[in-house]
Amino acid sequence: MKKIGIIGAMELEVETLKAQMQMKQIVKKASMEFHEGTLNRQEVVIVRSGVGKVNAAMCVQILADLFHVTHIINTGVAGSLDASIDIGDIVVSTDALHHDMDATIFGYQPGEVPQLGRLEFPADPALMDLAKTSCQEANPDIHVFTGRVVSGDQFISNAAVKEKLISLFSASCTEMEGASIAHAATLNGIPFVIIRAISDKADHSAEVDYPVFEQKATQDCAKLVAHMMKKI
Ligand code: ADE
Repeated sequence: MKKIGIIGAMELEVETLKAQMQMKQIVKKASMEFHEGTLNRQEVVIVRSGVGKVNAAMCVQILADLFHVTHIINTGVAGSLDASIDIGDIVVSTDALHHDMDATIFGYQPGEVPQLGRLEFPADPALMDLAKTSCQEANPDIHVFTGRVVSGDQFISNAAVKEKLISLFSASCTEMEGASIAHAATLNGIPFVIIRAISDKADHSAEVDYPVFEQKATQDCAKLVAHMMKKI
């Protein structure tokens, strides 16, 4: 039996999904509320992790240990790192990595967690395919891209920092949880995918664009995730 953990960092990113689900119970752990029930008849646990990589990793570990989820989906917004990916478009992760991990002084690659034996955390191909086809079905007017997600405990709103992330990581978008979710899911052997709608361009315009586009972007993402539950 599949049981899908659905994580959003902020309330806005999970409220639509919670409103649509059939709730069985709410379990509180580590200041997070895990909403257990079904969404489009699929067993799910929907949770707001809180912002940033520590919250996100803790959330995955609880989903693994207490709820025994079989798959993890991260939904939310992100800043674009690719000129062809615009505000309102959706990115489905091919893989994720920590852009703020730097042990290069010891010969590791930028983003590489020392002694882990890998640089990036690949997303599950079946979940990626399902996310792409679900996006085309649920949001036919929205462009969907696949690509790398890079995460750090930083809101990126500076052109020079953005350019550095692009040149180091060839990523499609940046946010603040995906790599931790990918990392923790991988260590627990749980297939995952990150699905992010673009709310800003991760440069000087982000401060203005983010609050304007956040709501529509999160709703588009939630619609896609709800549709995925019909077919997973
Ligand atoms: N989430 C949405 N936009 C972001 C940005 N520019 N940087 C980090 N996280 C984000």
